[in-house]
Amino acid sequence: MSSVNIITIDGPSGVGKGTAGVVIAKKLKYDYLDSGALYRLLALGAQRHNVELENEASLVALAGHFDIAFSDDENGEIKTFFEGEDVSGPLRSESIAQFASQVATYPSVRSALLDRQRLFAVEPGLIADGRDMGTVVFPDAALKFFLNASFDARASRRHKQLIERGENVSLRAVRDQLQDRDSRDQNRLVSPLFPAEDAVEIDTSNMTADEVVNTLLEIVALKGFFAEANA
Ligand code: DC
Repeated sequence: MSSVNIITIDGPSGVGKGTAGVVIAKKLKYDYLDSGALYRLLALGAQRHNVELENEASLVALAGHFDIAFSDDENGEIKTFFEGEDVSGPLRSESIAQFASQVATYPSVRSALLDRQRLFAVEPGLIADGRDMGTVVFPDAALKFFLNASFDARASRRHKQLIERGENVSLRAVRDQLQDRDSRDQNRLVSPLFPAEDAVEIDTSNMTADEVVNTLLEIVALKGFFAEANA
């Protein structure tokens, strides 16, 4: 293993990768990259600066320079900042998710975000969560996971998440939105969502969030990451 240990967790929305990624990062004392948050921040930044989806050049400029930051609050929750303002709440809305998946189809936008993502790889290690972490951003990662689940399971998890954050949305609407996002993320020309050849693939349809965490942790332990972290 190189001096920076990288574990990637890719997969579509609603498979439990975020929860698992945060727990594993804490246990290993690694940094955590929520790459989806970068695409969401770009979408939010574009909205705030009145940059239209069609304005690729301005989106690229924004992706290269936007002022963003992540930090843990007193409860250990990750807070996300745009130009100094805590935008953790608005960032998780479905409208931002849809806009994020649209800006993410531009190859130029993706390459503008590439270096920013790679800067997260610092010692002792990084858990990188997203769609193309194992295939494009960190192809040499020491361990790669690809999580998937049935469409029904993902839609009902996503629905629960949105209801919990106060969005008044029907399961039917969530299914339509998820379908849109899946097809855009899977069919875009650059870095579409698919498992890296060497990824460990896990179906989380019938697992609770805790079971997903424990399954991944067991594999991380089997691969010797804890031994190395404690050496
Ligand atoms: O993981 P998420 O739901 O926060 O991601 C929001 C959108 O960002 C997702 O629909 C597609 C895009 N995305 C991407 O294209 N590549 C990534 N590595 C992460 C997210």
